Amino acid sequence: MTRTVYVNGHYLPEHEATVSIFDRGFLMADGVYEVTSVLDGKLIDFDGHIKRLHRSLGELDMAAPCSDEDLITMHRELVALNNIDQGMIYLQVTRGNPGDRSFVFPPADLPPTIVAFTQDIPNLADAPAAKTGFKVISIPDLRWDRRDIKTVQLLYPSMGKMMAKKAGVDDSWFVEDGAVTEGTSNNAYIVKGNRIITRQLSTDILHGITRVAVLRFAAEAQFEVEERPFTIEEAQGADEAFSTAASIFVMPVVEIDGKPVGTGKPGPVATRLRELYLDEMRKAAV
Ligand code: PDD
Repeated sequence: MTRTVYVNGHYLPEHEATVSIFDRGFLMADGVYEVTSVLDGKLIDFDGHIKRLHRSLGELDMAAPCSDEDLITMHRELVALNNIDQGMIYLQVTRGNPGDRSFVFPPADLPPTIVAFTQDIPNLADAPAAKTGFKVISIPDLRWDRRDIKTVQLLYPSMGKMMAKKAGVDDSWFVEDGAVTEGTSNNAYIVKGNRIITRQLSTDILHGITRVAVLRFAAEAQFEVEERPFTIEEAQGADEAFSTAASIFVMPVVEIDGKPVGTGKPGPVATRLRELYLDEMRKAAV
């Protein structure tokens, strides 16, 4: 299937969409991105993703590439043109093409590069992995110290995913100073009794948009929420563990470094939070 993608104001067949070899995103990973999920042909938590995009751009002294209305129109157009019922939209904004390579930022009025494309995933909400859960390994967190900015600098997370694959599991959880930071591309949680524990927001982790909603639904469902670091040993001894992201919603984690968590099967809390998240976010989709 040939996708219709978006590049700098144009909707084009994917093989016709190009970006310069001098683009700062290509040469310097000088760009930020967002991934928005689509359910029933509608955008999930788009407001949250736009807010975080602005924050990432602001932290890197980049101007907004266009208005928020233009961004939502473009996302909806891509969903319609590609007939997406369930899937994701990837949006990337880079500092643009200065026409050469230099460590110095180009002038602020250089137009940014904006690229977006759809990923068609018909069983996103019904992913088989959610029924069996993820197995994860722990690896050292070797990323830079501004993980709160959603940059396209994803080499180490990608290496972490490959380490997991090589170990025959689904994902890696990063560990720094003895505590879990997050997963390769998701936030990490454990459950102890009625308490849900996840690392507090800081520059150590990405401020997940799914995290905000899941913690709100958890509090509304009378769970206690505790935001603090936890160790791999504490996670292995917890009743349940799970990860969240726009790409996986709430994903039970059933094994960490070869040790089963709880019963070794998706637990009732993660399963309930996944259902709550999907129900509520579908209602609020735009
Ligand atoms: N990743 N932490 C990291 C390091 C991430 O890359 C992501 C998202 C999250 C979860 O954020 P959110 O709930 O807003 O999706 C946490 C996206 C899905 C990706 O890179 O594909």
